[in-house]
Amino acid sequence: MSENNEHNTEKEIDKLTGVETTGHEWDGLKELNNPLPRWWLWVFYACCLWAFGYFIVYPAWPVIGGATKGTSGYTQYKELRASQDEIIKLQREYLDRFEKASFEEILQDPALYAFANAGGASAFKDNCATCHGTGAQGGLGYPNLNDDDWLWGGHVDEIYTTILHGIRSGDIDGHVSQMPAFGKEKILTSHEINEVVDYVLALSGNDHKGSNDHKGSDDISMMPGQKTFKQNCASCHGADGKGDKQFGAPNLTDAIWLYGGDHHDVYKTVYNARSGVMPAWKTRLDDNTIRQLTVYLHELGGGQVDEIETDHAMEGDVAIPSVEEAAEMVAETVIDAVEPQTVEEDIPVEEIGDEQ
Ligand code: HEC
Ligand code: HEC
Repeated sequence: MSENNEHNTEKEIDKLTGVETTGHEWDGLKELNNPLPRWWLWVFYACCLWAFGYFIVYPAWPVIGGATKGTSGYTQYKELRASQDEIIKLQREYLDRFEKASFEEILQDPALYAFANAGGASAFKDNCATCHGTGAQGGLGYPNLNDDDWLWGGHVDEIYTTILHGIRSGDIDGHVSQMPAFGKEKILTSHEINEVVDYVLALSGNDHKGSNDHKGSDDISMMPGQKTFKQNCASCHGADGKGDKQFGAPNLTDAIWLYGGDHHDVYKTVYNARSGVMPAWKTRLDDNTIRQLTVYLHELGGGQVDEIETDHAMEGDVAIPSVEEAAEMVAETVIDAVEPQTVEEDIPVEEIGDEQ
């Protein structure tokens, strides 16, 4: 059909409308040659004009080695820097106050408190989540920082010291106390270890399925492991097994286990000792970030307070920035990635056997 139309040079007028056709026809339907609507044309011209202006003012055409610069000198990089400057200015306002404030003042000032929490949360994700988990829930060998079960103390100052200097980190001010490897160093025999493990499990209320004849014994003071415990363990874990924060010795009477709570796990702990290592952060993070982390963990872990009043910090009617707002204000701290430590897997051959 198009062949016919191409040769058809005569103007054809549509009978019904009286409008000239373009000569295009599809199965009997003909196209009328109406002019474009005026408004459409004007919009089209305006767009062309605007585009022309845009090409001149902004970087637009690709050329070798980049693009035309445009008369405005605009770059996205400049725009980014301007908005970052704005953020840093906003952050500066808080940081100046934060730097000068003591922990007590921070805990009492809702705005500073929110600022510290937001900064701490973001620094935690960057630096601590590798070992402690993104929600600070911990894992085998890495303590849960959400609970109020603190190995080394949950007061702000204690948490600050722990983060600053680390645990068995080699830092001279770090926590150093270490449990002896009772099996490896041949302080106790395998039999004695089995007994004391039974005793520890009984203390924690776990089922003490063990190596010897005291299964089902209700009176734990009758257990043979008790004597071993008093002599070897009580100095750090306390006579009642409730632990001692001075030595970082965990409470053995609760159901919270850093290294697993069945007989096999606890045997391994006592035989080898675990000696978890936590790096000192004072060489990696600035003091403000460490203080923000401290406040964040104190809040997370149901941190312990003495006379410090913090209840108003959670009130909703004060104008404090939201966590998201505050998080935006906090520049990210980049540090060398820290490899998580692996727990030593040195298991004795005789393990849970009853020799002698
Ligand atoms: C390389 C792994 C690792 C990283 C990374 C790490 N930690 Fe730890 N952290 C540990 C281990 C292991 C322990 C437990 C040590 C022990 O046995 O006492 C610990 C303990 C702690 C404790 C003491 C908890 C208590 O109950 O007293 C705090 C607080 C803590 N970490 C905070 C942090 C913060 C804040 C960061 C990030 C800046 C961080 N940790 C990063 C491994 C790590
Ligand atoms: C010098 C102090 C010290 C002595 C003595 C000591 N411990 Fe410990 N114990 C610790 C510390 C510190 C930890 C923390 C774990 C670590 O090393 O990372 C610990 C951890 C443990 C754990 C792991 C708890 C968990 O949550 O997984 C068990 C179980 C335990 N000790 C049992 C014993 C027994 C049984 C004895 C005596 C035979 C003993 N300890 C003697 C300091 C001590």
